[in-house]
Amino acid sequence: GAPVEVDLSKVEPGAILTVEWRGKPVWIVNRTKEMLDLLAKHDDRLSDPASDNTAQQPEYCKNPTRSIKPEYLIAVGICTHLGCSPTFRKDIGAADLGADWPGGFFCPCHGSRFDLAARVFNGSPAPTNLVIPPHKYLSETKVLIG
Ligand code: FES
Repeated sequence: GAPVEVDLSKVEPGAILTVEWRGKPVWIVNRTKEMLDLLAKHDDRLSDPASDNTAQQPEYCKNPTRSIKPEYLIAVGICTHLGCSPTFRKDIGAADLGADWPGGFFCPCHGSRFDLAARVFNGSPAPTNLVIPPHKYLSETKVLIG
C-alpha cells in the first residue's frame, strides 16, 4: 500500500479525522491541552502505560503521548482484541463509561476501552495498546502515513 498524505489543518482541536491506509482506518485526533493534561493522570489504570510493547508503535512514538507532536494522535483504528473499530468518545466523564472517563475510544464489540493515546485500560479484553503506524511530518501541517 502507498503512503497517505494528510493535511492536518483540516482537523479542528478536539476533532478526529479518519483516513484509509492499507485498507485500514487510521485516526488523526487533534488533542486539546485539556485532553493532553488528562492523559498523564491514569497510568495506574493502563496495561502498558509506557508503551513497553515495542510491536505497537515505532520507537519514535514510545513516549507518554505516543506521538511525534503531542497534539496529534495518529493510530490505527482497529481493536487489538478481535478487530472491531472502536468509537471515538471524547466526552469526558461520560455516564456510561464511568465518571472518571478521561476521553478516548470504546470498542462496542466486547467493551475494550482506550485512552486518547490509544492505550488500553486494565480489564479490557484487548491485550495491547492500539497500533501507531509509521509516519513522518513533511511540514507543520502535512503528515505522511506509511
Ligand atoms: Fe474490541 Fe473485542 S473487538 S473488544
